[in-house]
Amino acid sequence: MTAGVRLNWSRLRARLDALGRVGALEGGGVCRLALTPEDKAGRDLVAGWMRELGLHVSIDAIGNIIGVRSGLEDGPPVMTGSHIDTVRTGGLYDGTLGVLAGLEVVAALNDAGVTTRRPLAVGVFTNEEGARFAPDMMGSLVYVGGLALAEALATEGMDGQTVGDALAATGYAGPAPVAAPAVHAFVELHIEQGPVLEEQAIAIGAVEGVQGISWTEVTVEGTSNHAGTTPMRLRRDAGYVATATAAFMRDLARRMGGDQVATVGSLALTPNLINVVPGRARFTLDLRNTDEGLLQETERAAFAEIDRLAAAESCSVTRRSLARFEPVAFDPAMVDRVEAAARARGLSVRRMPSGAGHDAQMMARVCPTGMIFVPSAGGISHNVTEHTDDVHLQAGAAVLLDLLVDLAMP
Ligand code: GLV
Ligand code: MN
Ligand code: MN
Ligand code: MN
Repeated sequence: MTAGVRLNWSRLRARLDALGRVGALEGGGVCRLALTPEDKAGRDLVAGWMRELGLHVSIDAIGNIIGVRSGLEDGPPVMTGSHIDTVRTGGLYDGTLGVLAGLEVVAALNDAGVTTRRPLAVGVFTNEEGARFAPDMMGSLVYVGGLALAEALATEGMDGQTVGDALAATGYAGPAPVAAPAVHAFVELHIEQGPVLEEQAIAIGAVEGVQGISWTEVTVEGTSNHAGTTPMRLRRDAGYVATATAAFMRDLARRMGGDQVATVGSLALTPNLINVVPGRARFTLDLRNTDEGLLQETERAAFAEIDRLAAAESCSVTRRSLARFEPVAFDPAMVDRVEAAARARGLSVRRMPSGAGHDAQMMARVCPTGMIFVPSAGGISHNVTEHTDDVHLQAGAAVLLDLLVDLAMP
């Protein structure tokens, strides 16, 4: 425990609520798709809080917002952070918890008049969700040198605007260069977004790594034709190829078992009318597994089945990779530290993989990295009803405080 440094829960709660009002949806939840006016408003709010807390705030060319608190010594900071963009049907905590708990740690250190030996940094990474621009985790990926800035800026979103234009429009094309950072260690606090911790009544997850992610956009071209007059034998039904693929993927993932998951989350049929055979289908494939070999097997099976279905329906197919990240294992010493910090607070803890992608998996390329999970009610996330009880949010923030101070003090 961190003697003399106290988190102020009502201040953190108030910031979570205030950010939750930016892009709030009627009936609950938030929509702050990356680099939209809502995301800009959220960024303005958070950057303003960073400045109020005395952080030195810089914005880099991909729009990452980094706030640094000086230490007694110069040198690589201990860093925390996450993202504040959301999916279209986002909740209050995905990403925001990690950012705002990081700010609360800074605020608590300020209150206590404590200066750590190493600098502390809090990052807000651009477009973690990938719901508007692919790949996901774009800001942190560029930050660690895993994607060229020019390529990221040229990426077109689902609405046709490029990342570069959206950054310019929001005023977040910052002047700071994006350079591979020297970071002493990175810790991200995040909601689990799955059912494990709640089901097992465990307060804290010590995340061992993140499963591999494969995102593909598939476009099927057939012939749109009259639904009443076109015999089944003469159809070139692009919609059939898409929906049969979705059914096949679900079946395959269930047969494979383990932690293989497969999702067709976006499907657009053209012309999308009741009495017209779809002439075009565009859909996405999200495949994940903690085992890279199995993930590759799933990809091969998926692509072969799509080709087979399309050929049988006389349709043509094009595929575009939107994101592909291998599984990531976090530094075992950092996993140990998370576990030990939770135990020291008297909290139940278990080691576990992450099913969702996180900025921490990119930071793990450049520094020892760990993640703290807290339970998600009902395992529900990417949903407006996403919820975590205050007691769990507080526990996660306390573990984050202890870890950051521990890493920054020795
Ligand atoms: C991002 O949140 C993802 O894991 O899809
Ligand atoms: Mn997230
Ligand atoms: Mn998310
Ligand atoms: Mn995510």
